[in-house]
Amino acid sequence: MGTPRHVLEVDDLSPDELRHVLDLSELTDPPQVLAGRGVVLLFEKPSARTRASMELATIQLGGHPVTLRHEEVGIDTRESAEDLARLFSGYGAAIGARVFEHHKVERLAAAASVPVVNLLSDEAHPVQTLADLLTIRQSLGRLEGVVVTYVGDANNVARSLAIGCASLGLPFRVTSPPGFAFSDEDLDRIGAVGGTLEVVDDPVRAVTGADVVYTDAWYSMGQEAERAARLDAFAGWRVDEALLSAAATDAVFLHCLPAHRGEEATDGVLDGPQSRIWPQAHNRMHTARGLLSFLVGEGS
Ligand code: CP
Ligand code: NVA
Repeated sequence: MGTPRHVLEVDDLSPDELRHVLDLSELTDPPQVLAGRGVVLLFEKPSARTRASMELATIQLGGHPVTLRHEEVGIDTRESAEDLARLFSGYGAAIGARVFEHHKVERLAAAASVPVVNLLSDEAHPVQTLADLLTIRQSLGRLEGVVVTYVGDANNVARSLAIGCASLGLPFRVTSPPGFAFSDEDLDRIGAVGGTLEVVDDPVRAVTGADVVYTDAWYSMGQEAERAARLDAFAGWRVDEALLSAAATDAVFLHCLPAHRGEEATDGVLDGPQSRIWPQAHNRMHTARGLLSFLVGEGS
């Protein structure tokens, strides 16, 4: 058996592989590549979509998921990440992990002999981007040339989305309040993938003519204590009906969820005619299945 394929960030898949995973995600009767096998899912942070979608995708491929929360496994407190990776490599056909520190998922991958999937770290959320790209493709009928504007915190979701867009040729614009923008290192990292990345200070200018407007929470899991300060800093970056009206007339609105309704986006936008947040959330399950099919079936 060769070195396993890990997906810790979107560009661990080549552009062709990424498109192929999206195609696999649309198969309604997928090969049962996990028949009689397990997938082990580790969570250091809460989750609704990621846990449910990975578990259900595993079952849809004939397999059995085992989910363990941090308080049970104690990654690096009860047992090292490396020893857990060695252990679960013998139980499952793949390991998924949601962690705080990105390096932890890298350490799991380095010690595992089965594919490791990053289910969100403080740096990246690649499995979210798969669902985002599929939703864009289904909503607009194409990917290449689709202008995506991300409004708000330049966080894990924004970084993976930017890398996914760079990989598949979607021009990406980002607008964030001072202090919450991509670092120079992030910009270099995303720029190295290719594509067109524009940092725009003014949210209206950033959204003008965009085909997709995307936002995420102004404070991520683990940043709850910063809520009050962030609400002030991000006040001009709320996606409301007025801001969305600057986008292309057939533009769609996306949000990875969970939403802090009334903060980063209004109810009118989240529930409005341009919103695709529910197909996007449901695509988490389909793309989880597509990714596992690739990693455990074809990519293994
Ligand atoms: N979008 C997302 O990853 O949701 P959960 O945190 O609920 O898994
Ligand atoms: N940026 C958010 C995404 C949640 C799915 C967080 O990390 O909490």
